[in-house]
Amino acid sequence: MSDPSEPVDLVILGGGSGGYAAALRAAELGMTVVMVEQDKVGGTCLHRGCIPTKALLHSAETVDIIKESAQFGVNASFESVDMAAVNAYKSKVVEGLFKGLTGLVKSRKIEVVQGHGRLVSPTAVEVDGRTIEAGHVLLATGSYARSIPGLEIDHDTVVTSDDVLSFEQIPRSVVILGAGAIGCEFASVWSSFGAEVTIVEALPHLVPLEEESSSKLLERAFRKRGIKTELGARFERVEHTADGLVVHLEGGKTVEAGLLLVAIGRGPVSADLGYEQIGVEMERGFVKVDAYCQTSIPTISAVGDLIPTLQLAHVGFGEGILVAERLAGLPVTPIDYDGVPRVTYSHPEVASVGLTSKVASDRGYDVVEATYDLAGNGKARILGTAGAVKVVAAKDGPVLGVHMVGERVGELIAEAQLITNWEALPAEVAQLIHPHPTMSEAVGEAHLALAGKPLHSHS
Ligand code: NAI
Repeated sequence: MSDPSEPVDLVILGGGSGGYAAALRAAELGMTVVMVEQDKVGGTCLHRGCIPTKALLHSAETVDIIKESAQFGVNASFESVDMAAVNAYKSKVVEGLFKGLTGLVKSRKIEVVQGHGRLVSPTAVEVDGRTIEAGHVLLATGSYARSIPGLEIDHDTVVTSDDVLSFEQIPRSVVILGAGAIGCEFASVWSSFGAEVTIVEALPHLVPLEEESSSKLLERAFRKRGIKTELGARFERVEHTADGLVVHLEGGKTVEAGLLLVAIGRGPVSADLGYEQIGVEMERGFVKVDAYCQTSIPTISAVGDLIPTLQLAHVGFGEGILVAERLAGLPVTPIDYDGVPRVTYSHPEVASVGLTSKVASDRGYDVVEATYDLAGNGKARILGTAGAVKVVAAKDGPVLGVHMVGERVGELIAEAQLITNWEALPAEVAQLIHPHPTMSEAVGEAHLALAGKPLHSHS
């Protein structure tokens, strides 16, 4: 532990993905670091987000495999989902990672101060009466699940993703408000577990920020799975009845269910933490930063869900590393947020990187595109998955974006990320031979088509 009376190089408020990544890198670069965390190091991603939900999705996938086993010639019968056992498996995964992370933090000699911290000056954070002075302060207090004004979360029948992670029962029927990543992932889990699911989304499509063709493929897959959708539908109010809930939509339509999951986005955790009092410039509750994650006060930086960039754990990691390296005096490059891969881990998965065709056109590109249907891919047929890989490129220019739907495409986006971020030409990618039979061939095939030499493609 550092001498509490001596200033350290860096004090970090919040030990989630952004905060701990900065702590690890800063310590690696020789800085003295104190990280203040009121709950558990690892934050939303490890304890209430990415990791536990992906464990749930894996249990759900196991159910699907058993239910669909006959098509692969295997006779197996599905009995039931034991939620206590599912939760135990999920907790074991989380606990294992938590133990590893705690060990890593300790081994880098980062002091973790347990408690609720506040920013008290441009160079200090206070926790339970102790003032921690530092050369630099990093704000990384993350986000919380938002609701709509007038829609009260009662943590019983009207809930957020935080509440449902510890559910001991599978809901019989559920309305999910919002068709972003959280809404679609929980729709997928609960549908596999046997619940009746209806998704209500104000915009015209599921995962509305994705390429429209990806949204449509997901909508088709969800329809086949019996997941109902109300698209372009605005939530009006919820009525509590003796049997459960009636969700009223604008225009008079109603949907009955036992549970309402509110998944309409996450807001920054920034209130009452001293940020505004010390003069940190804010915007709609988010901390404003420049391209190097520096706030309006030069000795204070901010990263992760607290700043108005993509709310993804891997973005938090990247921003944390950037800040640590900048403070250590290393040359740093601003993050290209368009180049960050995005994955929704539903069944099927939706993955993308780079620009959609619409955004590319809006930015003035003369856009060309090719779509490769997974129906032509051997491995996709073997797995029994449907979907597509779409490549968006500038005419006579580089690949601008890759958009995919299908099982396991989340693992394929890493290659698409290299292609997009290194601004490869479709013809250059077409030169690369992909291993057969793998799903990755679909990435190669889409580029072959765009380079004007389609192989297993009808168009
Ligand atoms: P989101 O912002 O991605 O999606 C919320 C959806 O709710 C939007 O499509 C919006 O149009 C809709 N909506 C808002 N108000 C509505 C209303 N009154 N009626 C009907 N629909 C309404 O937020 P989400 O899914 O809650 O996720 C929060 C954050 O966490 C996001 O930034 C997300 O990317 C991130 N996350 C990422 C995951 C991943 O990468 N796999 C998994 C889970 C969360």
